[in-house]
Amino acid sequence: MGNIILIGFMGCGKTTVGLRLSYRLRRTVIDTDKEIEKEEQRTISEIFATDGEAYFRDRETACLRKLTESADNQIISVGGGLPLREENRELLHKLGQVFYLRATGETIYERVKEDTTRPLLQGGDPLAKIGKLLKERDPYYNAAADVVINVDDKSFDQILDEIEGKVNEREENRKMEE
Ligand code: S3P
Repeated sequence: MGNIILIGFMGCGKTTVGLRLSYRLRRTVIDTDKEIEKEEQRTISEIFATDGEAYFRDRETACLRKLTESADNQIISVGGGLPLREENRELLHKLGQVFYLRATGETIYERVKEDTTRPLLQGGDPLAKIGKLLKERDPYYNAAADVVINVDDKSFDQILDEIEGKVNEREENRKMEE
């Protein structure tokens, strides 16, 4: 399918890049966290607190499955933990071209340090938590990605240019194969 999918750690810029890309390419943007919150009529923090992380992870897979039945030529940004499940990585691959927005722990910490909406980063030492989770997750993000974009020192315009270039490249290749 012809979607553009954005994956990466919390705070790597998926939501903002998704929105800006949607203006630039005139495509609709969907965010799995927002879809789940809408369906559940409550926030991610409430879902984690009431039903736990495992419940939320199942909701993510269900949300992706639904997208494989409906979404095409859209931009889809997904929650930071979603690519960890093998089944989800397969679904992402089916949905389209997957971009991993890769950032260092320091960049992420600077962006999320005031944030209270991400249950996995609350309490304790957030920089240490980010470092540990990032180390665990980076191999899964790489496994899920068609393209890795290092975002640390780049402006949004540079990131969008890179994504657009890769989207066009893929489209050219697809046309040549026809
Ligand atoms: C999570 C990331 C969050 C959200 C939930 C769990 C994670 O999404 O899905 O809090 O496990 O990394 P963002 O990456 O959009 O913050």
